[in-house]
Amino acid sequence: IAAMDVFVLRHAQVVMCVATEMRIRPFQPLVLSYNETGTCCSEEGCRHFQSSAVNYSTMLLEADSERLYVGARGAIFALNASDISASSALTIEWEASPEQKRQCLLKGKDNKTECFNHIRFLQRFNSTHLYMCGTHAFRPLCAYIDEQRFVMSSQPEEGREKCPYGPTTGYTALIIDQQMYTASQYEFRSFPDIRRNSPSPTLKTEDAPTRWLNEADFVGSALVRESLDSSTGDDDKIYFFFTEGSQEQTTVYSHSRVARVARVCKGDRGGRLTLQKRWTSFLKARLMCSLPEYDFHFNMLRSVFVMPGHTPQDTLFYGIFGLEWKNVKASAVCRFSLSDVQEAFQGPYMENQDSGSKWTEYTGKIPDPRPGTCVTDALRARDINVSTSLPDDVLDFVRRHPLMSQQIQPSDRHPLLFRRTTDYTHMAVHMIQGLDGQTYHVLYMGTDEGWLHKAVEVEGQLHIIEELQLFEEPQPVNNLLISEKQMSVYVGSPSGVVQLPLSNCHRYTSCYDCIFARDPDCAWNGAQCVDVMVHTDRSTLIQDIKHGSKGCENTQDDVIQRSRSVRVGDDVLLQCELSSNLATPLWTLDGSELQGYGLNSGFRTGTDGLLIIEARQDQSGLYTCYAVENNIKVAIVTYNVTIRLDMPPPPPHPSSEGPLPPPPPPLLPHSELLSPRNMEAMYLSLITILGGLCLVLTVVLVYVGFCLRVGNRGKYSLRAAAAAYPNNKRHNKNRKQHRSSSHMELKTISSHCNGNGICNGVSKQHNGDIQGGGFLQIVPGEGHPSPNKEPPPPAPPLPPTPQLPSPDCDFPNGLSATLPSVLRRMNGNSYVLLRQSDSENTSPLCYSFAEELNRILEKRKHTQLLPRPDESSV
Ligand SMILES: *[C@@H]1O[C@H](CO)[C@@H](O)[C@H](O)[C@H]1NC(C)=O
Ligand SMILES: *[C@@H]1O[C@H](CO)[C@@H](O)[C@H](O)[C@H]1NC(C)=O
Ligand SMILES: *[C@@H]1O[C@H](CO)[C@@H](O)[C@H](O)[C@H]1NC(C)=O
Ligand SMILES: *[C@@H]1O[C@H](CO)[C@@H](O)[C@H](O)[C@H]1NC(C)=O
Ligand SMILES: *[C@@H]1O[C@H](CO)[C@@H](O)[C@H](O)[C@H]1NC(C)=O
Repeated sequence: IAAMDVFVLRHAQVVMCVATEMRIRPFQPLVLSYNETGTCCSEEGCRHFQSSAVNYSTMLLEADSERLYVGARGAIFALNASDISASSALTIEWEASPEQKRQCLLKGKDNKTECFNHIRFLQRFNSTHLYMCGTHAFRPLCAYIDEQRFVMSSQPEEGREKCPYGPTTGYTALIIDQQMYTASQYEFRSFPDIRRNSPSPTLKTEDAPTRWLNEADFVGSALVRESLDSSTGDDDKIYFFFTEGSQEQTTVYSHSRVARVARVCKGDRGGRLTLQKRWTSFLKARLMCSLPEYDFHFNMLRSVFVMPGHTPQDTLFYGIFGLEWKNVKASAVCRFSLSDVQEAFQGPYMENQDSGSKWTEYTGKIPDPRPGTCVTDALRARDINVSTSLPDDVLDFVRRHPLMSQQIQPSDRHPLLFRRTTDYTHMAVHMIQGLDGQTYHVLYMGTDEGWLHKAVEVEGQLHIIEELQLFEEPQPVNNLLISEKQMSVYVGSPSGVVQLPLSNCHRYTSCYDCIFARDPDCAWNGAQCVDVMVHTDRSTLIQDIKHGSKGCENTQDDVIQRSRSVRVGDDVLLQCELSSNLATPLWTLDGSELQGYGLNSGFRTGTDGLLIIEARQDQSGLYTCYAVENNIKVAIVTYNVTIRLDMPPPPPHPSSEGPLPPPPPPLLPHSELLSPRNMEAMYLSLITILGGLCLVLTVVLVYVGFCLRVGNRGKYSLRAAAAAYPNNKRHNKNRKQHRSSSHMELKTISSHCNGNGICNGVSKQHNGDIQGGGFLQIVPGEGHPSPNKEPPPPAPPLPPTPQLPSPDCDFPNGLSATLPSVLRRMNGNSYVLLRQSDSENTSPLCYSFAEELNRILEKRKHTQLLPRPDESSV
């Protein structure tokens, strides 16, 4: 599990391409400068394409013509790949006719989603034409596109055998040498099928006596030209990736669905009598992506990216896997090598002797030539030149044994990444050479909520470099493409297409920032973080992808300087915003490290700063906050703190001379009132009397009402802390849904644990502003818990793992499961809900002030909290 300990992100950044503002941590918020042509973000190189159409789900990138073709609902677009927002976009409108839509409605289909022409297929057919298919309101059609003029070159033709009927049906298809290979469950009631369509010979998968595919949901396919470097005269193969109902009997666990890879030979022509018009080379095997230590299996394959190697034999398959439980968000990324896949297809077969029972490994005699192989030189030597010449016993074996026994393990033996709370939908990978000469794989992964995560694979682990929020409204990433020529990543979504540069090194302002990021695209040139691709002289560049620590020893970073002046007895928060989620704070006072921030030290440290509790004069001095990351200490901010004595001093305490004395005894605020002890006694007797009256008179309702009314007026006054910073606003619109608050809310300066980076009220530009430091504020609210505040439904039936590998922190999308909401019953008559702005965690790294304040409140409540009607403040 340690190998997958990559949940903590350095930078979580937000790019809202269609919003009016953009916040990128750790930078100042930027205002978008987009215009009507779609130059949408101030994020350099970011472009956005949108039209009246929705559901941009099909994309085809043509490197030569520098065009990006996009299929949406009812339209196909040809965009300029170097700037998709350019107004030069060409359009083919292709919507289903009103009559067709009416018939679709009559078939009982949904006229809000299904009764449209969703473009499901768009690929090159030959050098002059593209081919596309659309669902066409539940009557699929296909058509050729004249690429030059970008018009439909003929009347649409029947698409029933090539295209699914609905927009969400699992589907994958390829055009290879002008033949179309498709895999889907075409019609509603038909069996799923892998087909080669016209021209002849048309081939299909077999349904009886053995059904080759069991409710398969296809996500991808790939041609691997294995004939190219084959010494045995092997054939090219087409691989199909899907999830299907499991058939095999396993001893340890049982799963209803499993991830699979199937393959067929390109030269397959079917059998002569047996398996006529059926594949003779169909074989399938299980893809494993699991954490065996926890018996935790990712069985749902969501998407596949095929990474070509130097030779076809070096091909890699990257897969995004999910869990079977629909209400659990989790993703794993596994990588498989072609040779491991081939090995499984060379291994033992599975069989089921009487239909209905589970499948077990076949141990009997295997006919010769080996069933399911392509026609190779060895077969040609035996005068078997095509599959129709294969002997009947071989074909009959193929027919009954489509499943291999061997499971395909990921090439690294474990997932490259396991992540809770995130559902990845699509990904693309590209290779880049680091300055150390090594080749790194960089993954771009889109989520179901419209985020783009960039990650680099280092020694079998994925290190997430950045997270970008692409859309203001959460929406799934439908498709994702990389163009190395344009140095761009293209993301299709329901609302539009976004183009982003593969890297934006300018985000990293300091040398350490640049190095810690471990982005293979970026390096420090002595003055700024630059894109290595545009630098010809790389000898002076600094980069450390492997460890993310070396190279910045001789650079000097600017340290923010602030001063604070507060009164004795105040609670003071010295804000220290760490731009990296991976950093931990370290504080010094006049050069010596503050040790132990325990309850009695008078200091607390948290994710957002240092809290001085009931400041004493001897705590004045120069405070410095360091961010410690990868064992490197980087100064962030210094505070010159002066603690003034112009307020009623706290009761003296003996050890006030020491450097870190225990905190003073609780100060009695508003001492003109009764002492707390007396007050408590009085209160208790009042309740007793009322209770007695209630019992005696048995007019329960009336008195309960009375009691409640009295009770609710008891509120508490905590002593004022540092002046509140007035400009505090919470910016994260996206997260409002997770955590709208109508309760008392403890706001702290945005914690670096939350990773969204958009709550900071104070920026680096506010240097020296006395009021510009930290603030603590309790916002009064209603004192009852509201149902919609509750965390999402209880955890699903997780497998019986002793302990799930758990990230130290959870991150923006989907972290609702760990919302901090602490409901405390105070003095028996009023509820105060304390919530921190951001996620609360038990890890010391993410220790936060919500918890801290709770503890302080708890400590003080019996001794010094006075019922003060209608007053509540910190
Ligand atoms: C199409 O887009 C609409 C709105 O943008 C969305 O509600 C719907 O789920 C999308 N359908 C598919 C199949 O993506
Ligand atoms: C695409 O846009 C770039 C820059 O905006 C321009 O130089 C190029 O000519 C455009 N290409 C086409 C095919 O329009
Ligand atoms: C869908 O059909 C219903 C009638 O069945 C009709 O009232 C509604 O306006 C239709 N919606 C659209 C978007 O066509
Ligand atoms: C490509 O295919 C289209 C449609 O079948 C055909 O009209 C066209 O002539 C073909 N082009 C070439 C160069 O073969
Ligand atoms: C198979 O091909 C070889 C050469 O490619 C040829 O000599 C032989 O006659 C063929 N056999 C059949 C049965 O077609």
